[in-house]
Amino acid sequence: MRLVLVGPPGAGKGTQAEFIADRFTIPKISTGDIFRANVSGGTELGKLAKQYMDAGDLVPDKVTIAMVRDRLGEPDAAAGFLLDGFPRNVAQAYELDSILGDLGTSLDVVLELQVDNEEVVRRLSGRRTCRKCGHIWHVEYDSTQADGVCDKCGGELYQRDDDQAETVRHRLDVYAEQTSPLIEFYTNRSQLVVVDAIGTVEDVTERAIRVLTAAA
Ligand code: AP5
Ligand code: ZN
Repeated sequence: MRLVLVGPPGAGKGTQAEFIADRFTIPKISTGDIFRANVSGGTELGKLAKQYMDAGDLVPDKVTIAMVRDRLGEPDAAAGFLLDGFPRNVAQAYELDSILGDLGTSLDVVLELQVDNEEVVRRLSGRRTCRKCGHIWHVEYDSTQADGVCDKCGGELYQRDDDQAETVRHRLDVYAEQTSPLIEFYTNRSQLVVVDAIGTVEDVTERAIRVLTAAA
């Protein structure tokens, strides 16, 4: 399956991506995760991306597209993939067509996770990510994580720099202006399926797997 996840910041894309990718045995490719790995590794790409990420703006298309082209060309993506966080504007969507066309393939389905802004703010203000295994937790919804230690691997949990209230508000504006036009774009191509992303993580996973299985 060749799948794109779309939805506002905090919709649960990263959380669901882990379960969906496991279920369909495909690699999860998150542009946000790749940028964050570059930031912590101190690479040139990381230094460039950090300025944009900290402001809640999109990293320039040229950089992001080249990175995705390289990643999709790797052998593990040949039989399918889940893209989390890409494309993020219509220009990137056309570039994705071109990348996949060059690889002799195309996209199967785009899954939109729908949540309201109030829930987004609640989710992002309590988000904690494991430095070691990357698992995403929430201090309220996963109450055992309040001690700052990952239940899966014992790693240290950290709060993302871009989860401060003001940056979150800006990321929501960027989503509304630049990313949400993708909903119409993929609807017009009959590639969009939608899931209500309010509810427990397990409920949302179940809904997502159901619509994806039907769409595949
Ligand atoms: P990115 O990392 O993609 O961030 P985002 O799209 O803003 O999405 P988030 O990761 O914030 O949220 P999510 O939907 O994954 O939610 P999560 O599962 O963590 O991008 C970061 C930055 O990188 C961008 O701002 C940009 O600068 C750059 N970038 C990335 N891609 C780019 C691109 N293509 N082009 C240009 N720039 C790009 O869940 C959130 C919280 O809610 C967690 O605590 C979780 O535990 C909790 N939660 C999840 N589901 C539930 C549930 N059902 N019930 C209760 N809590 C839940
Ligand atoms: Zn961990």
